[in-house]
Amino acid sequence: MFFSTSTGVLALAATQLFIGVSAQLKTCTNNSTLSCHSSSKAPTCCYNYPGGALLQTQFWDTNPSTGPSDSWTIHGLWPDNCDGTYQSSCDPSRAYTNITAILKEQGRNQLLSYMDQYWVNIDGDNESFWAHEWGKHGTCINTIDPSCYTNYTPQEEVGDFFQKVVNLFKSLDTYTALSNAGITPDSSKTYSLGDIEAALTKVHGGSQAYVGCEDGSLNQVWYFFNVRGNAINGQYQATAPLSKSTCPSSGIKYAPKSGN
Ligand SMILES: *[C@@H]1O[C@H](CO)[C@@H](O)[C@H](O)[C@H]1NC(C)=O
Ligand SMILES: *[C@@H]1O[C@H](CO)[C@@H](O)[C@H](O)[C@H]1NC(C)=O
Ligand SMILES: *[C@@H]1O[C@H](CO)[C@@H](O)[C@H](O)[C@H]1NC(C)=O
Ligand SMILES: *[C@@H]1O[C@H](CO)[C@@H](O)[C@H](O)[C@H]1NC(C)=O
Repeated sequence: MFFSTSTGVLALAATQLFIGVSAQLKTCTNNSTLSCHSSSKAPTCCYNYPGGALLQTQFWDTNPSTGPSDSWTIHGLWPDNCDGTYQSSCDPSRAYTNITAILKEQGRNQLLSYMDQYWVNIDGDNESFWAHEWGKHGTCINTIDPSCYTNYTPQEEVGDFFQKVVNLFKSLDTYTALSNAGITPDSSKTYSLGDIEAALTKVHGGSQAYVGCEDGSLNQVWYFFNVRGNAINGQYQATAPLSKSTCPSSGIKYAPKSGN
């Protein structure tokens, strides 16, 4: 089995790791190699490589405000080469721009209505934001290549990708984690980076998250994972960030969304 990416043709040679199931992504065994933890440079359908770190990234947008006032919103799911570098736009032939139509065709209407609320573009054009996230990042996740499916139907991996990002996001409730630690949007308060990072370890299996600021104001969180198996039904293991925070160590603002 072979597939090509922007970096060339990669061999897939791990059929013995599959437990066969029909009409879906092949299941990986529980002892599949943990990504970023092997010297193996052979990507397989059960081993994320070179993008072995998967980042569930989130926004806190206040200018203008997007999404519910008591929730962060989804940015995406990004493969990173375990070192802070990453591949992008790996398969132009699968860089679909009709994400809504694809998800509707797959009967994923609940997913779509969730995305309409929580995966929103600060510029208002959600469809092009989704297409950008899929084409730039999603097509670089080697374990959801069409060749990793049995009885593949076109764009199946697109629906799996968006559903997985939403599922991960739901398990990483940044707003509640911060508010449980007394860190709430308030234009008259500021917070320390240490307190924010400590609060976020509670939703991230004890690992730190990357915390991003713009003009000293909290606006992004990235949760890093390594994965055993494929990116859809593999086991996600929280891991430390590969990027340094862009926030000051103290005096961090957390602006309320408008309408709050
Ligand atoms: C893999 O692990 C999960 C959770 O620990 C368990 O439910 C499942 O039965 C295991 N599968 C196999 C094939 O061992
Ligand atoms: C995973 O476990 C199975 C069954 O115990 C074994 O046959 C296989 O070699 C193991 N695979 C790896 C990659 O360790
Ligand atoms: C989405 O676009 C692709 C590429 O143009 C096309 O093959 C596919 O049929 C479209 N899907 C739907 C549901 O319109
Ligand atoms: C994007 O989603 C938001 C929130 O649901 C909505 O207000 C906005 O109209 C959507 N934009 C487009 C272009 O669909």
